[in-house]
Amino acid sequence: MRIGIMTSGGDGPGLNAVIRGAVRRGTRAHQSEFAGIRDGWRGLLEDDVTPLTTYDVRGLSGRGGTILGTSRAHPYSGGGPARMREVLRARGIDAVIAIGGEGTLAGAARLADDEGLPVVGVPKTIDNDLDGTDYTFGFDTAAAIATESIDRLRTTAESHHRCMVVEVMGRHVGWIALHAGMAAGAHAVLLPEFPVSYDRIHRWVRSARARGRAPIVVVAEGFVPEDRVEAVAAKGEAPDGRPRLGGIADELAPLIEEATGIETRSTVLGHLQRGGSPTAYDRVLSTRLGMAAADIAVERAWGQMASLDGTDIVRVRMADAVDKLKRVPQSRWDEMQILLG
Ligand code: F6P
Repeated sequence: MRIGIMTSGGDGPGLNAVIRGAVRRGTRAHQSEFAGIRDGWRGLLEDDVTPLTTYDVRGLSGRGGTILGTSRAHPYSGGGPARMREVLRARGIDAVIAIGGEGTLAGAARLADDEGLPVVGVPKTIDNDLDGTDYTFGFDTAAAIATESIDRLRTTAESHHRCMVVEVMGRHVGWIALHAGMAAGAHAVLLPEFPVSYDRIHRWVRSARARGRAPIVVVAEGFVPEDRVEAVAAKGEAPDGRPRLGGIADELAPLIEEATGIETRSTVLGHLQRGGSPTAYDRVLSTRLGMAAADIAVERAWGQMASLDGTDIVRVRMADAVDKLKRVPQSRWDEMQILLG
């Protein structure tokens, strides 16, 4: 069997390890051949495909980014499924492994279930917001980078007796903010799922200062402040029309300074959280998911994706996984409260 593999949507640490895992497993266990599809669905629509051997994937488990490139191209643009079918036939590709987040997997599910295309999936997002899998690879690395950054900001905040507001990624959900905030001992944690008043934020900051601490506020980019209906998107729109979230930390810092009298500075971590080497946890998870995806493809179980259930790699229908977001549950928010302020 000849298997095409692609990475689509925002990149994340671990994509290369998935590619390596799939190619190694497919080649060694199933005598499959692989083709690399460049820049997500764009490569399949524009016939931008390259052979991919075990030689090409050597040493990849610790490398950040994706050797195949990625894009947010829509699968139903530029000829859509009919064009893809043509390219697959011309290239002799029998199966496609699509590695991506909610948007990619929703597209992949539709192509498999409605159009009958031979597509399977691997879930990816640093936000960890995909249902149908306990964790997505990339999240552990992003949370580790955010934690280390907060640790570093804390020492300079303590030296200057300042408050620091740290903005992390998290478009619809606050998993990175919650985990980095808990790991780094933040005094306020602000998530998209749980609205919090300015007054509450200021009380957390004052109470941390009253105990002699340099207050640390961790805010997810998707947090919606009480005087807004939408998340702050200070950087315009992406080419696909989505607002580029970001800027909430810069909005909050002067308000905190004014209300508390504590000098307050903001830092936006942005794409630092998506770049560089994956953690050991993410390398292992990515490799296992890649190997499982090769098995799913060889079994022609179209519409299925590899996913994590506890410590086991299992299979779920992509259509079920993209049904709803995996939000931070109330119990995790309640648990965090005793650590704040
Ligand atoms: O979904 C992952 C993510 O990193 C979000 O947290 C963020 O809002 C978005 O991607 C940013 O995407 P881009 O790099 O295309 O601006």
